[in-house]
Amino acid sequence: MCGIVGYVGAGRAAEIIMAGLKRLEYRGYDSAGVAVVTDRTIASAKKAGKLGNLGQQLAESPLPFDGIGIGHTRWATHGVPNDSNAHPHLSFDGRVAVVHNGIIENFAVLRAELTAAGIALASDTDTEVVAHLLAQQLAGGAGLADAMRTVCNRLDGAFTLVAVERDDPELVVGARRNSPLVVGVGKGENYLASDVAAFIDHTRDAIELGQDQVVEIRADSVTVTGFDGAPAQVHPYHVDWDLSAAQKDGFDWFMRKEIYEQPKAVGDTLLGRYDADGSLTLDELRISKADLRRIDKIIIVACGTASYAGLVAKYAIEHWTRIACEVELAHEFRYRDPIVTSNTLVVCISQSGETADSLMAIRHASEQGAKVLAICNTNGSTIPRESDAVIYTHAGPEIGVASTKGFTTQLVACYLLGLYLAQVRGTLFGDEIGRLMGELEQMPQTLERVLENADPVLKLAADFADAPSVLFLGRHVGYPVALEGALKLKELAYIHAEGFAAGELKHGPIALIQDRLPVFVVVPPQGRDMLHDKVVSNIAEIRARGALTVVLAEDDDTEIESLADVWIRLPKVSTLLQPLVATIPLQLFACELATKKGHDVDQPRNLAKSVTVE
Ligand code: F6R
Repeated sequence: MCGIVGYVGAGRAAEIIMAGLKRLEYRGYDSAGVAVVTDRTIASAKKAGKLGNLGQQLAESPLPFDGIGIGHTRWATHGVPNDSNAHPHLSFDGRVAVVHNGIIENFAVLRAELTAAGIALASDTDTEVVAHLLAQQLAGGAGLADAMRTVCNRLDGAFTLVAVERDDPELVVGARRNSPLVVGVGKGENYLASDVAAFIDHTRDAIELGQDQVVEIRADSVTVTGFDGAPAQVHPYHVDWDLSAAQKDGFDWFMRKEIYEQPKAVGDTLLGRYDADGSLTLDELRISKADLRRIDKIIIVACGTASYAGLVAKYAIEHWTRIACEVELAHEFRYRDPIVTSNTLVVCISQSGETADSLMAIRHASEQGAKVLAICNTNGSTIPRESDAVIYTHAGPEIGVASTKGFTTQLVACYLLGLYLAQVRGTLFGDEIGRLMGELEQMPQTLERVLENADPVLKLAADFADAPSVLFLGRHVGYPVALEGALKLKELAYIHAEGFAAGELKHGPIALIQDRLPVFVVVPPQGRDMLHDKVVSNIAEIRARGALTVVLAEDDDTEIESLADVWIRLPKVSTLLQPLVATIPLQLFACELATKKGHDVDQPRNLAKSVTVE
């Protein structure tokens, strides 16, 4: 939430910052701003609305000079998204400009203190207090980095702060607590950003910042300390993704591109994890086999789409390992006094690795003595750094706000975890692990076939563009798929959509069925699965009440023909793996429907990609 860029170097700061913000716009797009420093002056421009509005303003009246600078694209927390609440915020004396991501929880107290000192606040934001507090420190003789450390020690909550000061036009200072900030290390220039995407055009050498650290960047130096001023250990790393990953490559939306990248993302996530001798290796797991054998409960914590991957994992892990597995929304887990022991494995699924709710959940789990395993797509992010172990998904950067390849690769990582636990604990017999791994290794080709046969679902989007409501039904692992289908439609097409467990239908939701109501139904594989016939009966029940049925079923499912108004044909796969093939048509449907409705698919209203505030 909120994208931040800072730049020091000989380049044209405002242009470099605007290009970086463009790459970070997925993090928030309510308003944007930029400030540059040179000749003992700070010049800034800020504008409500998407970054394009600011770009237009800068084209009409460019900033008067181009020194070092900072920029921000906002997802509003305190204060409506208007021009004055946009960042950067300037201090009362014009000496400091600051941008911020997060929430400063004690801002009301600090605001009252500043007002009592005669400082008039120009915005409704929590951020502005930081600009004034920094200026007070500078007025007292401190340098910007010292001022930042002092101020950070007074702040409660989650924050990334990046600031410049008028009288030191070669320095940008950043700080972070519970919110992301990375350093991009260039030649004769350095960057600060919420995400490496902001500087990937210029450098792939990055430094991960730890919790409660302050960083000073100059053109030729990077200095990191703790909030106490002590020098800090830094973790440099190389960003290995391809630049094309941050470009649309001819697609209309990042989301559509990312949907089509799923075969590769799934293949990359499997790569190197299954040996020719038929055994799974998860080298990065960092939890001993003895510890894995001791686990008596797994709790999966996650939010949104990632939590639906967790629900699928529950079915697979319990079936393959016989370890009890709960799935909990991370924001609920933390605050309900959950039963966690040293034999509990808490698995946190997070594409971004920065979701504040999930981060708080794993901290709570660690405090209770549980081992924490992260399933994450973002190298260097906070959640894997604070976990005992990590399984990285290798989806590449996901830029569309709605998760697609993030979800399918999370499923793959969960399957790998389940099968690995089964291998370590000896709970699957014969060559069941080999058979399932064989099927997973074929999955990239299988998913290609799903994408090649997407025409019916794309056509359907045009037919349903005016539907006021759409329902999704599924059973067993089809249930989380139904939830995910409904979520995608809500967030992209702004259509009321609900996902239900098909077995729940007669306990209430069937009352919603009326003439021509579109209902998507995920049907378990035929023949091999006892639930198939029950779901088929559900389809008959809703059809008898007038529903328009869109049925996702295997391509030779003979019982479907007479019950489906539209049949989305799925390739044959094992029941537990079916979510991989069944979710893709629903992603495409939501993307296409939102496109037909003229919505911004990559940046749906009110959303942001990384939810870094609780
Ligand atoms: C929906 C979506 C969100 C995220 C959720 C968790 O399309 O993307 O529901 O899945 O905010 O995000 P991560 O996985 O980054 O923790």
